[in-house]
Amino acid sequence: MWLRCTSRRLLTSLRVLKQKRLNASSWSNTVAAVVPEAAGFLGVTDHATLQDFSLTHNDSFWRAMANNRLTWISTFSTVQDCDLRRGKVKWFVGGKLNVSVNCLDRHVLTCPDRVALIWEKDEPGSQVKVTYRELLEMTCRLGNLLRRRGVKKGDCVTIYMPPCPLAVASMLACARIGAAHNVVFAGFSSDALAERIRDANSSTVITVNQGVRGGKMVNLKKTVDAAVDTCPNVRQVFVAMRTETPVAMNSRDVAMEEEMMHEDVICEPAVMDSEDVLFMLYTSGSTGKPKGLVHTQAGYLLYASLTHKYVFDYHDGDVFGCVADIGWITGHSYCVYGPLANGGTTVLFESTPIYPNPGRYWEMVERLQINQFYGAPTAIRLLLKYGDQWVHKYDRSSLKTLGSVGEPINTEAWEWYHKVVGEGRCPIVDTWWQTETGGICIAPRPSDPDAEIVPGMAMRPFFGIQPVLLDNELTSKSASGALCLAQSWPGMARTIHNNHQRFIETYCLPFPGYFFTGDGANRSEEGYYQITGRLDDVINVSGHRIGTAEIEDVVNHCSAVAESAVIGYAHDIKGQGVYAFVVLKKEADITEEELRQQLKDRVSKSIAKYACPDFIQVAPRLPKTRSGKIMRRVLRKVVEKDLNGLGDLSTLDDPSAVQEIIQGHKELC
Ligand code: WTA
Repeated sequence: MWLRCTSRRLLTSLRVLKQKRLNASSWSNTVAAVVPEAAGFLGVTDHATLQDFSLTHNDSFWRAMANNRLTWISTFSTVQDCDLRRGKVKWFVGGKLNVSVNCLDRHVLTCPDRVALIWEKDEPGSQVKVTYRELLEMTCRLGNLLRRRGVKKGDCVTIYMPPCPLAVASMLACARIGAAHNVVFAGFSSDALAERIRDANSSTVITVNQGVRGGKMVNLKKTVDAAVDTCPNVRQVFVAMRTETPVAMNSRDVAMEEEMMHEDVICEPAVMDSEDVLFMLYTSGSTGKPKGLVHTQAGYLLYASLTHKYVFDYHDGDVFGCVADIGWITGHSYCVYGPLANGGTTVLFESTPIYPNPGRYWEMVERLQINQFYGAPTAIRLLLKYGDQWVHKYDRSSLKTLGSVGEPINTEAWEWYHKVVGEGRCPIVDTWWQTETGGICIAPRPSDPDAEIVPGMAMRPFFGIQPVLLDNELTSKSASGALCLAQSWPGMARTIHNNHQRFIETYCLPFPGYFFTGDGANRSEEGYYQITGRLDDVINVSGHRIGTAEIEDVVNHCSAVAESAVIGYAHDIKGQGVYAFVVLKKEADITEEELRQQLKDRVSKSIAKYACPDFIQVAPRLPKTRSGKIMRRVLRKVVEKDLNGLGDLSTLDDPSAVQEIIQGHKELC
């Protein structure tokens, strides 16, 4: 379908770039056992030594990595210019490069016919393979189309698409022409999408007519239409055709594939500064609206590429199967940027773990010969319940590494993943990181393929990452506390779009001089880290991060509701579920059933289905302190049925409120 461009034309386009692959003269020829790239760092024989080196010689380490792994148009002058106290983070200052060239062109030069993407479509067996040459062509056509339609360097394009090659090409086309992308998870409602389009100030949106998931069609274009109707700044909506079902096209709509066919397959890459914006990605915080975390070019790409290589022990020719959606950071870093920067073959998974049956993942592993499988504990817990026979049915001998991400993996799920799925021979890498960190920060085997692994522990910090566990007194000796990172690293987010002050307040001020992650952790005597969960009011439902304040905001907008408190509770498949306490207005005339339906509809319309409360407890009032603060700790304990752990209730305004809550909970559950 895509025209082939000749290698001669490509070579010409590459020459224009004046690419310069820098030789790091400091590298010796000795090959270190653990990380071949670290060959120049003398005395490196194990992870701990190299990890120490990466901290004590932070600049040399990252300079060498950046020179070795990235293709620069012109090199950087300063490795880093960071001050965590002030929220100032700059890496590879003055360097010029283009991320799409790093992900595509340089591989097309050496291996044009290598498969870059395997699009695992909803129907098993209907996968589509896209080579590096084809992906470059697609990206260039799209880049030219965006340019011709007025998208400029520095603009922000919102992408609302399921995982598919055109979605990846859209991200890379933005990178090619210097526009930032803002991918919004295609499960978000039109209100949530509109909020993100407006905040990002996008005038261009890219979508598909329909999505296909679990055998069902989802009318994504319809959601975009409803969203864009409330976004006066949107000039144009590019519509790709995922299915044959025609959609009504408005005057602002552009038939994407048709127009792409008229474009050239060469697209001059924009010369980007290391610190220009590559993308923003919205995520939830404990208060207020979702925040658009901003990631920049060189540091993000380097960090995604390095972690992809070493955390998963990825080798040339391997097939990397990350089943995350591209709408989340995991999809950005480990479906797209990390694997493509490494010239890898990466899977885009469109379906669900149980379509058409609970053997889907493992049937796919056999059919696509996947070597590294990377998924979420919530799916593992779900599949475990369906029994081992769905796994045993398929040959999984291609698997080498099994990854876990997004939430803590409980022991039962870990053991099942290890013993049943991995036949006891594949290491489980439980990777801890966040949208903010850009890439994996703590993982069991960030370098040494033979290192010991302890179940359920994220374990070892990645190169250049220095975790500290802090209490309020800023002492770092304790073995449990708030997980902070003591040094900047290239992959970290630079700011919150349009709100640098919020960035500083959220991440830099709680523990001055450190990056505060919002998570708590323990450190064992061996120095291994175990993540204990969020310290704030962010919860994690099926691996999706959501602020309880966001849900409360929607619930409180319901006309019958006076106030509410939303908390997370332990759910055996989703990890956490949503539990809402609701106080009705005195004059409210609504049955509990009507209220439940109304709240469900509102939350799925304003946020997404996964954020809907599983339980809604109507209460006469909420337990509050004398100063009027809702005592969430008490609500959590009631829901956990830990009545002995209610703790100090002396600050309660009226202790009988707690008894009412306990009674109501007993009646509901
Ligand atoms: C949680 C997802 C325990 C954590 C990549 C973090 C984890 C939040 C793990 C970020 C893990 C992620 N063990 N908890 N291995 N990985 N988390 O931004 O609370 O969607 O702060 O990024 O997920 O979620 P986010």
